[in-house]
Amino acid sequence: MPATFTKSALMLSLMLGLGQAQAASPSPTALAVSQGIPHPAVIAHRGASFDAPESTAAAYKLARDLGADYLEMDLQRSKDGVLFALHDNNLQRTTDVASKFPERKDSPANAFTMAELKTLDAGSWFNQAHPDRARPSYVGLKILTLDEIIDIAQSNPQHKPGLYIETKEPKQFPGIEHDLKEKLQDRGWLSPAGSKLAKSDLAVGQGKGKVVLQTFEKSSLELLQKEMPKVPKILLLWIGEGGMQPKSDVTFANSGEKDKAAYYAKQEPKDKAEFEQWVSYAKTQGAIGTGPSAALTNGGDQSYFDLVQPWMNQFTHDQGLLVHVYTIDEPVDFKKVLDSGVDGIFTNRASELLKYVKRPASGSVSQLLEANGY
Ligand code: G3P
Ligand code: CA
Repeated sequence: MPATFTKSALMLSLMLGLGQAQAASPSPTALAVSQGIPHPAVIAHRGASFDAPESTAAAYKLARDLGADYLEMDLQRSKDGVLFALHDNNLQRTTDVASKFPERKDSPANAFTMAELKTLDAGSWFNQAHPDRARPSYVGLKILTLDEIIDIAQSNPQHKPGLYIETKEPKQFPGIEHDLKEKLQDRGWLSPAGSKLAKSDLAVGQGKGKVVLQTFEKSSLELLQKEMPKVPKILLLWIGEGGMQPKSDVTFANSGEKDKAAYYAKQEPKDKAEFEQWVSYAKTQGAIGTGPSAALTNGGDQSYFDLVQPWMNQFTHDQGLLVHVYTIDEPVDFKKVLDSGVDGIFTNRASELLKYVKRPASGSVSQLLEANGY
């Protein structure tokens, strides 16, 4: 049963946690609360990216005003050293780079200065890809710097979400962990919270868990831990290159599966020990949890490996770690992963997940977008 982040839940959690501490690890709820992280945590993946173009102001303002606990982002660094949010390695899928910089359209985003990135339209692609959700106001939306996302997170007095920041392909950005620390420090996001916990789920961005750091890269986890030892960290889990060894080496091309989702759904870690080794590594390096993928009931391009089987979550909890699963958008899968024991969910549809965990937004998606001028 989903719990909300209320004072009574906190008291209950702490009591449960204390009760269990004598025998084993604290309960996952107590663990989350001790980190200032709501349970279950609602993590708006690239903002409210089902309803608005991912990683833009429209998506982040909507996620904030819906009441998501965290604004999730993939962090990159421009050619001139500015931190910004973008998921893909290059700009083709989500901008008009092909028309503005045709000769550089395949270049990585980090080959562009921030001034160049700011000339791109990061909204129109969404209207073409999703005509049912299109809005004229999305045309011309910009790529956002980390500074701009922090401004958004801080600017609704009714709800201050936290930041859930992934170092994306960090080997491309030597020193990005240090740059991130400096930025968060400058902006006051590393200063100790007044208390361990935010006063309520309206103020995650003011509590101990106001920033969560995430990465798929072991080396980046180690650097994040060195730079920001007190900030909660999550090791993202994956099967394949750079991740867990697979049980089968059959490639997608040779698998006979019709799409990647079907292929991923059948992939498993090499064995139990391989899964356990990754979780144990996360713990050893100071992570407070893992971020496993999930196979979605209806497939799709964000349906990956099922790394949230009950035994997996139980093992992770037994290590005293949390499980934040990516990326779930439908009630059938909210139920499935929460029943399997996860402690937080990355979602493109924060509005739906908030409804599911009985924390519905104060307005509809349309109302909140319109209130922000979209
Ligand atoms: O960061 C968790 C989840 O976002 C990982 O997948 O590829 O969407 O960044 P991706
Ligand atoms: Ca991410």
